[in-house]
Amino acid sequence: MNPLETSKNLNATRPNQNEIVRATEAGLPAISELAGVIWRACYPGIITMEQIDYMLARMYSLDILRDEIRSQGIRYDQLLVDGKLAGFASYGPTSEPGVMKLHKLYLLPEMQGRGLGSRLLQQVEGEVRTGGARRLILSVNKRNTKAITAYKRNGLVIVESVVTDIGNGFVMDDYIMAKDWSA
Ligand SMILES: CC(C)(COP(=O)(O)OP(=O)(O)OC[C@H]1O[C@@H](n2cnc3c(N)ncnc32)[C@H](O)[C@@H]1OP(=O)(O)O)[C@@H](O)C(=O)NCCC(=O)NCCS
Repeated sequence: MNPLETSKNLNATRPNQNEIVRATEAGLPAISELAGVIWRACYPGIITMEQIDYMLARMYSLDILRDEIRSQGIRYDQLLVDGKLAGFASYGPTSEPGVMKLHKLYLLPEMQGRGLGSRLLQQVEGEVRTGGARRLILSVNKRNTKAITAYKRNGLVIVESVVTDIGNGFVMDDYIMAKDWSA
């Protein structure tokens, strides 16, 4: 299926034109750069700047992103607003059949609060449901109330609380959220 065809029917904002396009490896440097901008704007107050830099290096280096696409079955969907990269979502399989994980969902600060995060999320949900998944899960920092609200608005519920040691003295203090649907 051509993602451009899919997204044509989903435009949610006016007067901006937005579309969702699957990223190829050529798009990964721009995603990595955008992630740095968004993380440094959104996460101060939730985690320290040191942890932001540490996690960006672990999650957004080009080698990591390439490996996700090449070897882990992870997809990156780019949100383009008036042709410019404004956000992205990534998602992929888990060890449990039928369960897909939303790994990343990020919008530039000026693009938040317009329903665009929901649009990306709905696109992801449509893709994984078409692929036969029965459940979508994600982890979100417990202090990230804006994201938790957006996820709840889209039918996800908190199912677990987890603290994960990620090394260097840092932890991720997260909720696991999930959405189930019947096949
Ligand atoms: C979390 C995030 C992806 C949510 O995206 P979002 O677009 O801001 O959230 P939604 O899609 O739920 O948008 C809803 C908001 O847009 C408004 N809106 C405007 N037009 C809308 C439309 N057509 N449809 C739905 N909502 C619309 C709603 O009123 C609501 O505003 P409010 O938050 O002031 O109540 C985004 O805020 C983000 O990138 N945050 C920083 C990074 C982050 O924390 N990512 C998640 C990591 S786990």
